[in-house]
Amino acid sequence: MNEKKFPDGFYWGAATASYQVEGGIDNCDWAKAAREERVPVCGQACDHYHRYETDFDIAKSLGHTAHRFSIEWARIEPEEGKFNQEAVAHYRNVLLALHARGIKPFVTLWHFTLPLWFSESGGFERADSPEIFAQYCAFVVKELDDLCEHFSTQNEPNVVGSNGWLRGTWPPFKRFALTDLVSITNSGKSYEPRSQRGFKPLFLYMRVMKNLACSHNAAYIAIKKVSPNIEVSVVKHTIVFDSNWNPINKLKAAIANYAWTRIYMNRVKKHVDSIGLNYYFYTKFGDKRQWRKTDMDWNFAPEHIYDALKMLSVYKVPLFVSEAGIADADDSGRAEYIQKQVQATWQAIQDGIDVRGHMYWSLLDNYEWALGFEKRFGLVEIDYNTLERRIRPSAYVYKDICQHNAVLE
Ligand code: BGC
Repeated sequence: MNEKKFPDGFYWGAATASYQVEGGIDNCDWAKAAREERVPVCGQACDHYHRYETDFDIAKSLGHTAHRFSIEWARIEPEEGKFNQEAVAHYRNVLLALHARGIKPFVTLWHFTLPLWFSESGGFERADSPEIFAQYCAFVVKELDDLCEHFSTQNEPNVVGSNGWLRGTWPPFKRFALTDLVSITNSGKSYEPRSQRGFKPLFLYMRVMKNLACSHNAAYIAIKKVSPNIEVSVVKHTIVFDSNWNPINKLKAAIANYAWTRIYMNRVKKHVDSIGLNYYFYTKFGDKRQWRKTDMDWNFAPEHIYDALKMLSVYKVPLFVSEAGIADADDSGRAEYIQKQVQATWQAIQDGIDVRGHMYWSLLDNYEWALGFEKRFGLVEIDYNTLERRIRPSAYVYKDICQHNAVLE
C-alpha cells in the first residue's frame, strides 16, 4: 500500500446548499415553482436550519476541517433593498458554530435560488442584475467578514443558465426549441416543468450568461471595497469533454469545453482569487465503453477530476474542490468513488496544480432540485420522516483520509 500525503493545512470537508437542506424557505423562485407543481416540494428538507449544530457535530466527528455552505439570498433580502438582520444573525450563529468546532467555513453567496422579487422582475435577464447582485454580496460580506475569510459569489452559473433557459427544466422554465438535440447535463429526469418553448430562450440564455459573469465581476469589486482582504472565488461546474482519436470528435470536445467552461471563465478570470471546482461529469465523444453508472445515471468516472482540475489550472489561481460526489443510495460505490477522486486530486497536486482543499458533495442527503429527495448524495443518510441522521459506512472511509491527510493506494 502506498500512502499519498497531502500538503499540510489541506482542507477536508463536505458541502451543502441552503435551499437543499435548511427547510422553511418559501419566498424564492423554487418554492413558487413547487407551489405551481413544476418541481417537487422542498418543505422542511433536512431541517438543517434548526439542526446545524447537530450536523456540524457529525462533521467534526468525521474529521472534517472545512465546510462549504450557502446563504439564502431570499432570507437576507426578502424585499428589494431591505435586509433582514435576523437572517444575518442566524448565519453568524452558523459561522460561530463552525468555528467552535474548529471547522473553516467557505461561504457561497448564491446557490441557485433567487428571492421572488428578483426572479419575478426578470432575475438575471435584467440589465441591472449585476448591480443588484453586487449590492447583496457586499452587504453579506460586510456583515460576516469577521467570521469568514472565503466567499464564493456564484455556484455553477452554466447549470443555472442551461437548465433555466435551454432545457427549461428549472425556473424560469424557458426552453430553446432545439434543446433535445443538444446534450446538456445535470438534470436527469425531471418533474413536469411546463416550459415555454421557442427560439427566444437561446438569446435570453446568452444574455443571462453574460449578466451572470458581469454580476460576479461587479460583486468581486464591491466586496473588495468593503473587505479588501477577503478571498473571493467563483464555483465552476466543469464537465470534462474528451474524445477518441477521431478529429471530428476532437473538434466536438474542444467546442464543448469552450462553450461550457471557457466562455464564462474567460469573462471572470481577472476577478477571482481562487476557483472552486464542482466535478461530476466525464464524457467522451466516440467512446464505445459501457460505463458503470451512478444513481443519477452519470458515468462513474471519479478519476477524471484530474482533467477538470487541469482545465481550471490555466487561470493560475489556487483551486479547491468545492463539490464532487456520488448519488449512491445503498452506499455500495461511494467509498471507492471518494478514494479515486481523492487519489486523482493528489496526482494533480504532484503534477504542480495548486489545490487547497476537498469538499465532498454532500454532508447530508438533500433536495436534489427537480428530482426531489430520492437521490442520495450524503455522507449522512436522512430519514425524511423522522429527520434522524445516520452516518453511512463510506463516511468513515473519508474520515480516515481527512484524519491522516492522506489516501492509500
Ligand atoms: C449542485 C448541487 C447538486 C449537485 C448534484 C451540483 O451541480 O451544485 O446543488 O445537488 O450538483 O446534482
